[in-house]
Amino acid sequence: MIFVGSVDDIPLGEAVRVEAAQVDAGVPIAVFNVDGELFAIDDTCTHQDASLADGWVEGCAVECPLHAACFDLRTGMPSGPPAKLPVRTHEVVVDDGFVYLRVSAPVEDAPAEVAA
Ligand code: FES
Repeated sequence: MIFVGSVDDIPLGEAVRVEAAQVDAGVPIAVFNVDGELFAIDDTCTHQDASLADGWVEGCAVECPLHAACFDLRTGMPSGPPAKLPVRTHEVVVDDGFVYLRVSAPVEDAPAEVAA
């Protein structure tokens, strides 16, 4: 598992970015705090190169800061264009006030492209 930090380091409605160097798969991951529930997805938008940790959290979705595609934090699925591909989701484990990630399978095993 990958150590993220203390639960207290992720404020309500905010996200932290776990840098690629910390992640075995070599991609950054964003961890979001939605009303005290934590969600982790690949940080890079599947449309272009934007950090979703810099996006806006609305309910259980994040809006990309570059072109406003929204991704469901529970499934990684985009709600519509311009993003067509989902981002990977990752399991978040909280133990004694600290946050860890179980990184999902590589992209090759991820769900197929979303129909437009
Ligand atoms: S980079 Fe995210 S919608 Fe374009």
